[in-house]
Amino acid sequence: MVTVNQQRVPRKRTYLMCSPEYFAVEYAINPWMDVTTTVDVGLAVKQWDRLRETLVGLGHEVYQLPPEPGLPDMVFAANGAIVVDGAVYGAQFKHEQRTAEAAAHRAFYQAQGWRFIAPTVTNEGEGDFAYLPEAHGGLVLAGYGFRTEPAAHAEAQEALSRPVVSLHLVDPRFYHLDVALASIDDTNIVYYPGAFSTASQKVLAQLFPYAVLADDADALAFGLNLVSDGCNVVLNSAATGLAGKLKATGYQPVPVELAELRKGGGSVKCCVAELRR
Ligand code: ARG
Repeated sequence: MVTVNQQRVPRKRTYLMCSPEYFAVEYAINPWMDVTTTVDVGLAVKQWDRLRETLVGLGHEVYQLPPEPGLPDMVFAANGAIVVDGAVYGAQFKHEQRTAEAAAHRAFYQAQGWRFIAPTVTNEGEGDFAYLPEAHGGLVLAGYGFRTEPAAHAEAQEALSRPVVSLHLVDPRFYHLDVALASIDDTNIVYYPGAFSTASQKVLAQLFPYAVLADDADALAFGLNLVSDGCNVVLNSAATGLAGKLKATGYQPVPVELAELRKGGGSVKCCVAELRR
């Protein structure tokens, strides 16, 4: 059972990131993107590099995917696949502006000898899939409503051999699961109930009675778009309220500033895919 203030134990992770060298807001495919905003690419790279250094500093291994010109959202590496126990279920992007990113991810996994399962339906990788290795024996949570098709949830279950729980996202500001929910350790999550349908909120409450609940301010500050190693929780520095809640529950918040990438509608988790052997 999860108790407040218990000792949180970090586990070493392997991540995949992609530098925002070609980051831009040239099209708007989510409510956060405004094509009239100016992006400071130099600053975006700097902030992204601080995130990478932070993860390395916490003892994690970070692989890098070479960025490609003409793919301004490629920095959001979490969207390329979901990886569980060496099996990689590849992405198939909803918007044509991002379609070509899938091949870059696929090439990375195939070159490294991972077991790659090609998708046949739209899904945006860890943008809409989260994995909890010790919850109910290993559980995949999956979002639908804006990007990933429900049919991809069934496909992911076959590809990853884990039960997949479908969750209905209903607020366009939270267009991906990973801006509304995150795993904070192997068994537990933090989420913003308002992003989900009433029925999906009930499902989450049933499966995760000890979840940390986030409020509007936490969610709008991109606080849920976090990366945790089971103890250290790397999250957007604007999410001060959520940082306090996590600290009170025994986690160690590690704030990072990612203001430039927020203009693309993403933060910490969007930039970081987890490679699970
Ligand atoms: N501009 C990107 C899009 O709308 C942002 C993706 C953010 N990634 C994520 N994992 N939520 O597709």
